[in-house]
Amino acid sequence: MDLLVVGSGFFGLTIAERAAAAGRKVTVIDRRHHIGGNAYSEAEATTGIEVHRYGAHLFHTSNETVWEYVNRFTTFTNYQHRVYSTHKGIVYPLPINLGTINQFFNAAYTPAEARALVAEQAGEHDPQKAQNLEERGIGLIGRPLFEAFIRDYTAKQWQTDAKELPASIISRLPVRYTYDNRYFNDAHEGLPTDGYTAWLERMADHPNIEVQLNVDYFDESQPLNKKATVGQVPVVYTGPVDRYFDYAEGELSWRTIDLKEEVLDIADFQGTSVMNYPDADVPFTRIHEFKHFHPERTEIFNQEKTVIHREYSRFATRADEPYYPVNTTADREGLLAYRELAKGEDGVHFGGRLGTYQYLDMHMAIGSALSMWNNTLS
Ligand code: FDA
Repeated sequence: MDLLVVGSGFFGLTIAERAAAAGRKVTVIDRRHHIGGNAYSEAEATTGIEVHRYGAHLFHTSNETVWEYVNRFTTFTNYQHRVYSTHKGIVYPLPINLGTINQFFNAAYTPAEARALVAEQAGEHDPQKAQNLEERGIGLIGRPLFEAFIRDYTAKQWQTDAKELPASIISRLPVRYTYDNRYFNDAHEGLPTDGYTAWLERMADHPNIEVQLNVDYFDESQPLNKKATVGQVPVVYTGPVDRYFDYAEGELSWRTIDLKEEVLDIADFQGTSVMNYPDADVPFTRIHEFKHFHPERTEIFNQEKTVIHREYSRFATRADEPYYPVNTTADREGLLAYRELAKGEDGVHFGGRLGTYQYLDMHMAIGSALSMWNNTLS
């Protein structure tokens, strides 16, 4: 073995694929029973509908290098993501745009009129001087829109009142003064035609790559554990950085989500893939309906059944899947301390969202893995 990769998410598999293509023998271990990390998806057993097991994943990028690279393993559908929001029993388009504003204020404002209205309402607070998230939000888009679509949604995500949350959680709240409600502005967008797992499996499908599942790097009963491998073989580690150092500098905090799945005996539950629920009296943040990600799979799409996930958000304990970095001041200090420790780990390269404690979209994880390969490992 020339390289050990810990974690088979997009970061780990990109490193493994590049190394294998360059003639290196690579072993990839993952503690889960499947490859792919959080992008893993599978067919729901009774309907065949592709379900994203760790939250909905939409691929989008403006990075031409990444786009060229990912197209070696999959084609993409022409899916364009759009999100809607049910507030007080009425459905609005997101991100907040001219359609949202006119529906909300029961008006027919022109772009200039809507812009002037939002500027006037936002005048209540200076976003630069905001003491908390509520003041920042009001200073960016005005109280009515902030309270309807952002305040309680964010409070549910963080299980914390918007007045108690730091202003820094939101740097900007985009408002579009057109009726364009495409969620992403990137040059390329789509879903993998044969699903995420087929894409991920093709990346790992190389005679120089061996994948071992159900192997935890910290389980010393396994041959490929930390003690046995560090200093013996180059390691790319994509698990949590605090876990690697046995939490010596404290635990970095994360948010997690709980997804409650239901298979329903109806053809269509909500008519779209993602519906937000921004009101405080609804306990979940959004509902995903997976068949709407692939309307081109007509047989599956047209059946009289559908699969939905209700998404609930909360702080993660050590036993939970870490999803979104909380990034408190203590977390940032902890991360700096771990980065110092990481410098002393000869031959170990920390990467991916868990190894660097940052939220990375898939194209960012793949892009940073390509950079690590080109700049450090090749
Ligand atoms: P990832 O977490 O995928 O992989 C790490 C792997 O390491 C895991 O398989 C884990 O089991 C393994 N591991 C950890 N510790 C280990 C140990 N001790 N021993 C062995 N293995 C170990 N992005 C996007 O572009 N569009 C989107 O719509 C979304 N949506 C989205 C929703 C939600 C809820 C989340 C949390 C994230 C997204 N993402 C996303 C981001 C996407 O999930 C992310 O870019 C990739 O997961 C990053 O891949 P990594 O390889 O870095 O981590």
